[in-house]
Amino acid sequence: MDFVAEINRLKKEKNAVILAHYYQTADIQDVADYIGDSLGLSQEAAKTEADLIVFAGVKFMAETAKILSPNKKVVLPDMNAGCSLEESAPADKFKAFKANYPDAVVISYVNCSAELKTLTDIVCTSTNAIKIVESVPADKQIIFAPDKNLGGYINRVTGRNMILWDGACMVHEAFSARMLKDMKEKYPEACVIAHPESEKPVLDLAEYIGSTTGLLKYTINSPKKEFIVATESGILHQMQKASPDKVFHVAPTSKDGRACQACQDCPHMKLNTMEKLYNCLKDETPEIILPEKTIKDARAAIDRMLEISA
Ligand code: 13P
Ligand code: SF4
Repeated sequence: MDFVAEINRLKKEKNAVILAHYYQTADIQDVADYIGDSLGLSQEAAKTEADLIVFAGVKFMAETAKILSPNKKVVLPDMNAGCSLEESAPADKFKAFKANYPDAVVISYVNCSAELKTLTDIVCTSTNAIKIVESVPADKQIIFAPDKNLGGYINRVTGRNMILWDGACMVHEAFSARMLKDMKEKYPEACVIAHPESEKPVLDLAEYIGSTTGLLKYTINSPKKEFIVATESGILHQMQKASPDKVFHVAPTSKDGRACQACQDCPHMKLNTMEKLYNCLKDETPEIILPEKTIKDARAAIDRMLEISA
């Protein structure tokens, strides 16, 4: 079957839009109407006029789209596409933790469940996290969940001392600073850039730190011709497309002290395939369904983020 032709036909027929994250496979990115980072995708979901949103990404992203467009049908090619950050912060455990700090402002990274968002004052993404944290008066205590690496990075940049939830991204945690130093010796002209979900020793080696969109823009605007990129491998597709004359390497990853090529791919993001995308557009399932109250409570925290980052 020609999935591209069939997907394009169904999109028109159903007035559907395909929103894809940069970590999707190249074929999925190429058939999407909008490709972006978490902030861009949620802004797009909030303003789309399509009747059906097909979310090529992971569950927390599709849930965010549903929260922002509750009257639209939102479908996800594979409902098992979760996220290690989301898993690290079950809402009941977080609620008990939060109760220890009744006066603290809760800022949650968008990579968390809809339920966790209902326990949150302001959501953030990697693009706007520093701006969101700086919008909170300096004398206010902040709890930051669920990514301790992003939270630690923001603490260092802003000088804040946020209380950090102990969660991490399984892909960004796998980048090895030791192997990255070796790679840098092998490619001495290459510029190291990293996503802030990476651990401090990796970030310390980076010339630029930013969200996926930030990293992509940096490679486009930089006069450098070669890059070592510490984020999920899917982003290289847009980098290479935008700068065909430049050379890109994914930063090396390891597991249990040994090199791990597969760790450069997010196993959740990569659950989506063209076939599943086609089936989900055709059958309009699996669908994201959330209780009305969850949508209302989670939306307040996402709206605050969108207001601050407008
Ligand atoms: P951004 O694309 O917002 O930088 O997020 C990265 C990520 O890990 C999404 O799962
Ligand atoms: Fe979650 Fe990391 Fe995969 Fe993003 S790359 S979806 S943060 S596990």
